[in-house]
Amino acid sequence: MHIKLPRTLPEPPEFVEGVRRAPDRGFRLSRKQTEVALKNALRYIPDGLHERLAPEFLNELITRGKVYGYRYRPPGNIKAKPVHEYRGNCLSGKALQVMIDNNLDFNIALYPYELVTYGETGQVCQNWMQYRLIKQYLEAITKEQTLVVQSGHPLGLFRSKPDNPRAIITNGLMVGMYDNQEDWEIAAQMGVANYGQMTAGGWMYIGPQGIVHGTYNTLLHAGRLNFGIGQDEDLKGRLFVSSGLGGMSGAQPKATEIAGAVAVIAEVDYSRIKTRHDQGWVRKASSDLKEIFTWATEAVKKGEPLSIAYYGNIVDLLEYVESNNLAIDLLSDQTSCHAVYDGGYCPQGITFGERTKLLETDRKTFCRLVDKSLRRHFQLIKRLVEKGVYFFDYGNSFMKAVLDAGVKEIARNGVDEKEGFIFPSYVEDIMGPHIFDFGYGPFRWVCLSGRDDDLDKTDKAAMACIDPDRRGQDRDNYVWIRDAEKNKLVVGTRARILYQDAKGRINIALKFNEMVRKGEVGPIMIGRDHHDPGGTDSPLRETANIRDGSNVMVDMATQCFAGNAARGMTFVALHNGGGVGIGKAINGGFGLLLDGSEGVDEIIRMAISWDVMGGVARRAWARNENSILVSIEKNEDRSDTDHITIPYVADDELVEKMVEEAFAKRR
Ligand SMILES: NC(=O)c1ccc[n+]([C@@H]2O[C@H](COP(=O)([O-])OP(=O)(O)OC[C@H]3O[C@@H](n4cnc5c(N)ncnc54)[C@H](O)[C@@H]3O)[C@@H](O)[C@H]2O)c1
Repeated sequence: MHIKLPRTLPEPPEFVEGVRRAPDRGFRLSRKQTEVALKNALRYIPDGLHERLAPEFLNELITRGKVYGYRYRPPGNIKAKPVHEYRGNCLSGKALQVMIDNNLDFNIALYPYELVTYGETGQVCQNWMQYRLIKQYLEAITKEQTLVVQSGHPLGLFRSKPDNPRAIITNGLMVGMYDNQEDWEIAAQMGVANYGQMTAGGWMYIGPQGIVHGTYNTLLHAGRLNFGIGQDEDLKGRLFVSSGLGGMSGAQPKATEIAGAVAVIAEVDYSRIKTRHDQGWVRKASSDLKEIFTWATEAVKKGEPLSIAYYGNIVDLLEYVESNNLAIDLLSDQTSCHAVYDGGYCPQGITFGERTKLLETDRKTFCRLVDKSLRRHFQLIKRLVEKGVYFFDYGNSFMKAVLDAGVKEIARNGVDEKEGFIFPSYVEDIMGPHIFDFGYGPFRWVCLSGRDDDLDKTDKAAMACIDPDRRGQDRDNYVWIRDAEKNKLVVGTRARILYQDAKGRINIALKFNEMVRKGEVGPIMIGRDHHDPGGTDSPLRETANIRDGSNVMVDMATQCFAGNAARGMTFVALHNGGGVGIGKAINGGFGLLLDGSEGVDEIIRMAISWDVMGGVARRAWARNENSILVSIEKNEDRSDTDHITIPYVADDELVEKMVEEAFAKRR
């Protein structure tokens, strides 16, 4: 086996005009660290080329804040090909290449030249040398080897068994003492840490569609919870205002229309408005707020779905809404506040172009403007909430960023985030109790053949597995999959998202594997977003409705990852950070290749059940009511093989009275 980069120098890189580029991340290494960083990057390069490449890499590090190794990027667009067109010694080696390439497609990736798939900083791996080596390993891998990838670096192939994972991926896992943004940035610039976000470094991103279904669920439940809308009704005649048309946030206009409502979404970067408009995911765009609210009010009155992009800053938009006393129902924000000082949030008063320039030239002023803008943003939200608008944090660390900008009153305890914030987060109020606690989560599949009719057949097969009368959530999921093709959600390779609980995922996966076995469809990769009942420990987001104090622990996500590896998922991933930032979450995911074999049926039954129910069991132990019910049901259904520990739930009054008395005596 010979896995090395070639001794010949690739051609200098070419950058296609109009393809978005990551901003300069701000070089911040000491002289000694810079030397180490340079030596680190040159580890991938045959020694005869060092003299030639050392200045190039150093220049990238100083001018862009990272060594990306642009010269090693394959020229042109990277696109997922049908799986059989890849080279390899086993199907899983080829399938993993499809997944990686799909994450880097110009139409999918946020900054494809910098290997960023979504969420401002979420990368497939750190640099193009790693990409090339990973591809070589995947071409060489057999059914008796596992590829180990540590923060994008392919450590090597190690012998394993056919039913072990073919790839084990970790990203950005830091020693507790260094587990903070600043130390992470140093590690990333030195070329030893990758920000995997969730499915970016977990190679399971399927384009913005992956988020549309979750956003649709969130909006439907937000409306139903707050405006007395029936479980079987949509959001007709309601207005949703938010910001961001990027990787995930770009799902908002589409999801709002599918939910029957009207959306006005602010976006400062015109290229992102154009992308979503060209895709048909946002219908109208303007920078004139008067025009926008005339369109919106008319559509609300008629009860017609509509989505509008506002080319401008969300704070300006909210100022307009507030001063003109305009009626809106739902309000959120999806700027990249998890990377608020890295360009994720554009401050009021400067354009997107000015923000990029200021980041390069005067970071201190940039940070000051961000804080000022966040404070104003908060004041406007507060006023709108007083007028009856329902605001929810969209898991982007918005409220934490406001707190860090100096607004103490956003914290429940007026000091820090330890007791949460005064506004709800979408998981705390909506996704947690109504989706995750039942085990529902973002199940997804990729038709590796790349054929439209495979996707069509799998959509129909999945729909046939759902009983819309079982629960309200099943009805919403049924409607989603029934209309999925009509809603034109696919960007990149043929893939589908479908929220399902444990039973639903198992039934659908078994059905798909049978279809592969019978030759009705080509091989399929199933997986999920890390944003799931058991995949992520994140107190500001996925575990925001865990209230037994264990939201500071990361046992669940770690156990989920280990259990999935032990049960034979094709690949598993565990990351630091996710959508909320370094040190604030540990999250993991998996991919399972459906090759039609009976062995895979067995993995589906064991591993999918563990993957979902491990999370539900932990939620049940945290005394979450709906999870307790689902766990009791599972204990009855699978009493021969599985058993979940069910908590005794203490009476609130009894505990409160006793504690009150004990504290009174201490005084
Ligand atoms: N959609 C979801 O389900 C979901 C779930 C959890 C977390 N999130 C979080 O949402 C955030 C957004 O994710 P993304 O992938 O879309 O990131 P992104 O960086 O691709 O998109 C954010 C967009 O916000 C725009 N923006 C920044 N400041 C602005 C401002 N002041 N006014 C108007 N527009 C502004 C940016 O130009 C950018 O296009 C992340 O923090 C992510 O972790 C999303």
